[in-house]
Parts: sequence; C-alpha cells; structure tokens
Amino acid sequence: MSASPTPLAQALRAIAIEIAVEAGNLAKDLRGRGVRVAATKSTQTDVVTEADRATERTLIGLLADRRPDDSVLGEEGGLSVTGSSEITWVLDPIDGTVNYLYDLPIYAVSVAATVADPSCADGRRAIAGCVYIPTTGEVFAAAQGGGATLNGERIRPNRLEDLGQALVGTGFGYSRERRAEQAGIAAALLPRVRDLRRLGSAAYDLCAVAAGRLDAYYERGLQPWDYAAGFLIAAESGAAVLGHRDGSAPGEWLAVVAHRPLAEQLRVLTSQEAAPEGWD
Ligand code: IPD
Ligand code: CA
Repeated sequence: MSASPTPLAQALRAIAIEIAVEAGNLAKDLRGRGVRVAATKSTQTDVVTEADRATERTLIGLLADRRPDDSVLGEEGGLSVTGSSEITWVLDPIDGTVNYLYDLPIYAVSVAATVADPSCADGRRAIAGCVYIPTTGEVFAAAQGGGATLNGERIRPNRLEDLGQALVGTGFGYSRERRAEQAGIAAALLPRVRDLRRLGSAAYDLCAVAAGRLDAYYERGLQPWDYAAGFLIAAESGAAVLGHRDGSAPGEWLAVVAHRPLAEQLRVLTSQEAAPEGWD
C-alpha cells in the first residue's frame, strides 16, 4: 500500500460509491416488486433477472454522465462501452443473483475503476472501488493507498493465524464439473477449520474478510466482475490476496484472502492440483 491515494483514485472512489448506492437502491426497490428470471447463462441455474439488467443499465448511464471517456465491462453486457481513457469500469450489477432471486439479504452491487496491469490475472487492477449492500445500506469502499472503509470507518481483517479456529468463506460456480472439484477442496478443508460459510456473494465475502466478519475466503472460478472491487477492498484493509502459488496473481484459478499467515496455510490446502497452462 502506498502512503495516500492519488486525487484521481479518490475521485473515482467517490463516483463508485455514488453510482453503486443509486443502482443498488434501484435493485432493492425492484426486489420489493417481485423478481422474474429473464434468461439462463452458462447453466440452467446460472440466471439473470430483469433487475440485473436494469441495474447494469443504470450504472452505465450514470457513468456515461460522469466519466464519458471511460470503458465499461459489465457482467451482463460484456465490454459494452469502449472509451479513450485509461480507465475501465468493471461492474457486477447484482453479485449474489441467486440470493436476490430467493429474497435472501446478501447481495451486492460491485463497482471498480481499473487500469491496465499485465501482472494481474485478467490484465486489470482496480485503483478504486465500492461494494454496496442494498439490504443493510453498508458501503464498503477503497482507493489504492487509502485503506478500506465501511460506511467511512477504517476496517481491518482479523489477525488470526490458527487455521483450526478460522471461519472460512467460499463459493461454488454454476457448472457441475467445477462444483465437483470445489466439493473435493471443501471436503478436505472442513475437518481442519472452525467452519465453512457459503454466503452467496463473492464481492461480499471479500469485504467480510476485510471487516473481520470472516477470517478467510477462497474460491475457484471467480470472474473479474466478482472480484475487481473486492480484491482492492481486501488488500487495502491489510489482508493478503493470493493466487495459487507464491508470486502468481489471484484470479479465476484461485483466490485466497486472509491475514497473510492464515492465507498462506489456506493456499496450501486449496491449491493441491497444478494449475493448467497459462494460469500464471
Ligand atoms: C456468483 C456469486 C457467488 C460465487 C460465484 C459467482 P453471481 O456471482 O458471487 O458467491 O460463488 O462464483 O459467480 O452469479 O451471483 O453474480
Ligand atoms: Ca457475480
């Protein structure tokens, strides 16, 4: 972490908060009026609702006003805006869509302003971001070098080192193959930790580690919109955000997040198999 955020990162954080809150409140209103599945994506259980689409459209509209030269990559629309500036906004309009569908309260709007960085798994690194939880009104935010906050107050991860005492969050993808692989890892881990939690929103899980609500989190299969803001918030809180082995970037193959000594132990248990070619 550098000493303080640049004026650009601070300005982008303010925009991320503003638009995540506005779009998140819209998603919450829409939830109150009922939810319909609009389509399925990778599998029959990977759904998109009209609210996912409306929330993403709202975010894109708000960005067009405030940052007309930036690019936008959204979960529902892909790279829908190609701008001329160095900034790409990475958006997950509703992270935790299945919770949203079932009216479970843990879902998030995730907004990150990223810059190109070839050392990162997807080639981008967030310099500012916000994860907003509409049901609780909680605003998790960070700008690179400025620490992480919850509703404006600094947050920090737990400094637990004993894996046996750790409450560990994780998530599961939508494909059967990925689930079978994830079940194997979870089965090996469960006897070695306090307990596992599958809360249903990766963006929230990352913020939960940042705020000490989980001791650690790991997942395979994350996409850039799931983690763009959350990785920054976790790192700025002081947590280690690790890939599958020393020096490899966290990303789709594996992300492990916790106070560093705990993250290093968890990584050993969650990265037993060699990553396929190209995952470094
Ligand atoms: C999913 C959630 C879930 C995680 C999956 C993600 P979605 O995102 O973050 O917790 O386990 O990997 O795909 O589909 O709700 O936006
Ligand atoms: Ca997501």
